Amino acid sequence: MTGALWPSLLEPRLHGSDDLCAVAADGVRIRFQDGRELLCGASGLWNANLGYGNEAIARACADALRDASYLSVFRYENVYARRAAQALVEVAGPEHYGRVIFSTSGGAANDLVMKFARHHHALRGDGARKLVVGLRDSYHGLTFGGFALTGEQLGQSVYGVDQRLVRHVSANAADEVTRLMDQQGSRVAAVVVEPVLGSGAVPLTPEYVRTLLDLRDRHGFLLVADEVATGFGRTGDFFASQRWPAPPDLLITSKGLTNGTQAAAAVLLPSALAEPFDAAGDVFVHGETQAGTPVTCAAILATVEEMRRLDAVAAARRLSALLDTALADLVATEPLVSGTTGLGCFRSIRLRTPDGEPLPQREVPRVVAAIRDAGAVVHPSVNGVQILPALIYTDADLAELLECVRAGVRAGIGVA
Ligand SMILES: Cc1ncc(COP(=O)(O)O)c(C=O)c1O
Repeated sequence: MTGALWPSLLEPRLHGSDDLCAVAADGVRIRFQDGRELLCGASGLWNANLGYGNEAIARACADALRDASYLSVFRYENVYARRAAQALVEVAGPEHYGRVIFSTSGGAANDLVMKFARHHHALRGDGARKLVVGLRDSYHGLTFGGFALTGEQLGQSVYGVDQRLVRHVSANAADEVTRLMDQQGSRVAAVVVEPVLGSGAVPLTPEYVRTLLDLRDRHGFLLVADEVATGFGRTGDFFASQRWPAPPDLLITSKGLTNGTQAAAAVLLPSALAEPFDAAGDVFVHGETQAGTPVTCAAILATVEEMRRLDAVAAARRLSALLDTALADLVATEPLVSGTTGLGCFRSIRLRTPDGEPLPQREVPRVVAAIRDAGAVVHPSVNGVQILPALIYTDADLAELLECVRAGVRAGIGVA
């Protein structure tokens, strides 16, 4: 029976389903209201990179709530936020990054960087730079700014999302973005990209990243890496953009930042980008009541420490190599799986019908449900499903996930 809760992005006919209502989670497993316990193949919503129930993070949150309750970074500072900012600079690279602005979600942090880029250029006397460029099929959240930048078509026009100052180009198409910059480069405030496009788990090619870095040098926009999903070891580095030949100007981190325990995001930037604000004595007009609170910052600090203690980046690389083998085997032995995409522990499988056509998107939810019936939670991808195991997965966990996926694909596409 439908209750008071209106869940996000779930078809109305499924509201109130006990088999979709989680009760508790531990390690890599989630218990549901209908009594089943399922293997999580999605790391929560790509955020519980270290698995559920991390004791050190839970303890740090409890201590901060008891000792400091609520303190803000709104017209004040607090020592938890100072410490968390410094820890993030250390892991991202203190030779480049120097300042951190806290936010509460990936979408809000994307709003923040769009505002920051425009204000930064205005202070440098270049106020005509208002355009923000994103990629087609990208995802930057569903707040009004983030939704405008999101290149996936998710009904922006229904909501009156204003995309007049946004341009979208195809990922990994160097010619297209070069042409756009030749025509409108002097009006571009920022280019925002996911190092791996989340919706289809499509990594940017090294050549494309090099093109973006060259265009930045030539045209003067700020290059932003939206690492909301790719940060905290997900792709086999602490941040995916640490593999780039040069760092982005701004880096957004969120999901793995607190191992999914808090509504937290952070934007990292070099100290030099703050200079125009310092010189003008101008205030950057962005603030969120719950950003940079003691509990979120304690969670960030504990997550960074746990990443180190568990050697989570090395674990991600090990698991990534296992995924290479397991997914190659799945493609070789399962005719309904046409291929895989992705990087590190951020993968997707592409499915096809028995006739060899790409699986229509409307049929993907049936496969997701069949994988759940077989024992694992996964989310939809482009013509397939996402595979995002926690970095702490054992070999046995991975084998179990792949078995559930195989069984679910066969049942969901109707050839079991
Ligand atoms: C790359 C990226 N940016 C932004 C977002 C939006 O984050 P949030 O749901 O916290 O607003 C997401 C969420 O999936 C994401 O993957």
